[in-house]
Amino acid sequence: MGPSRKSTPISCVLLLFVGFLAELVQGSMVPALYVLGDSQADVGNNNYRLSLLKANFPYNGIDFPGHKATGRFSNGYNFVDFLANSLGLPSPPAYHSICDTTEKYSIFLNGVNFASGGAGVSDLTNKGQCFSFSEQIDCDYFNVSTELVKQLGQPQAQAHLFKSIFTIAIGGNDIINSVLLPVDRLPILSSSQHFIESLAQTLKSQMERMYELGMRKLFFVGAAPLGCVPLLRERSLTKQCHAEANSLSVKYNIAAASLLRDMSTQHPDFRYSFFDTSTALLKYIQEPEANGFAEVKAACCGLGDNNAMSTCNPASKYCANRTSHMFWDVVHPTETTARKLMSVAFDGSEPFISPVNVRQLAAM
Ligand SMILES: *[C@@H]1O[C@H](CO)[C@@H](O)[C@H](O)[C@H]1NC(C)=O
Ligand SMILES: *[C@@H]1O[C@H](CO)[C@@H](O)[C@H](O)[C@H]1NC(C)=O
Repeated sequence: MGPSRKSTPISCVLLLFVGFLAELVQGSMVPALYVLGDSQADVGNNNYRLSLLKANFPYNGIDFPGHKATGRFSNGYNFVDFLANSLGLPSPPAYHSICDTTEKYSIFLNGVNFASGGAGVSDLTNKGQCFSFSEQIDCDYFNVSTELVKQLGQPQAQAHLFKSIFTIAIGGNDIINSVLLPVDRLPILSSSQHFIESLAQTLKSQMERMYELGMRKLFFVGAAPLGCVPLLRERSLTKQCHAEANSLSVKYNIAAASLLRDMSTQHPDFRYSFFDTSTALLKYIQEPEANGFAEVKAACCGLGDNNAMSTCNPASKYCANRTSHMFWDVVHPTETTARKLMSVAFDGSEPFISPVNVRQLAAM
């Protein structure tokens, strides 16, 4: 844990409209949304640390209200914003943006976003550049759940958490790094099957820990077909999707879905929706026009071949029509893609979302 942790915030979220928030929450399907994971879900946590993995500068946020670069790795909203909206909740604030005051408990009650760009299942993934997934669980969410217990008492805090939705999007960075930096994965000792098994084992203990801390309704976002993101497509000789990366995503999703199934057998009060992002996005990539996309290979914002040679930054080029592009930058979806995926997760069915969709999960 570096000295950058909880560095002096430039601005922090204070609870200004208690009445207003409470009203919004009254019309919601669940009391709160708690978010953990990586850059797909980050709404600004990485703004509060020294890191190369940040997005709080143009052209990120170009389609966000006020063209504001909030730290989201997107041209606009990300999937968590659409999820919160569908649930009738405000998009939860970044944990590290919340002021350390006595009122922070009321913010915690409405939901918190702990996600951090770069995070992976493994603590070694982008170590030092992000709030690791374990840190999000054992420091950040632990702190929030402890504060809720302190304020509400154990039974009330538990009842609140049991009814809330948790969303977790994690695993993509482990896969990307294992393809880009294969030395991390001693090739002789570690076949791809072994790599996935060891990720799944770590993920299982992380999910069990979350269960202990009150998670009962989980919307889990599986890995995208990472071989098809501009970053990895550019690295395949034929400029086709990187086959090994795609196969790792499929294996990881099978392992994650299977461990969640086991968990729900073991704990009958644990419910989940698993989103197979890989299957959903591959469908768009195979039939772009039918799904409203004109460009599914190049990034919208970046430099060089297919805009895949740099991250999105103020020196990049960016496309004029963001709704026709599947990818915003070298790895992240555009707002349009995130909206489409979230609507499939919310109201769709197998093979994309199972065993129930998010609307059904919320109503359980
Ligand atoms: C949560 O974190 C804050 C700020 O770091 C700290 O002051 C507080 O004591 C922590 N609460 C618990 C219950 O650990
Ligand atoms: C942007 O692309 C979408 C999808 O290809 C298309 O429907 C729309 O008309 C385009 N908008 C403009 C302003 O060209």
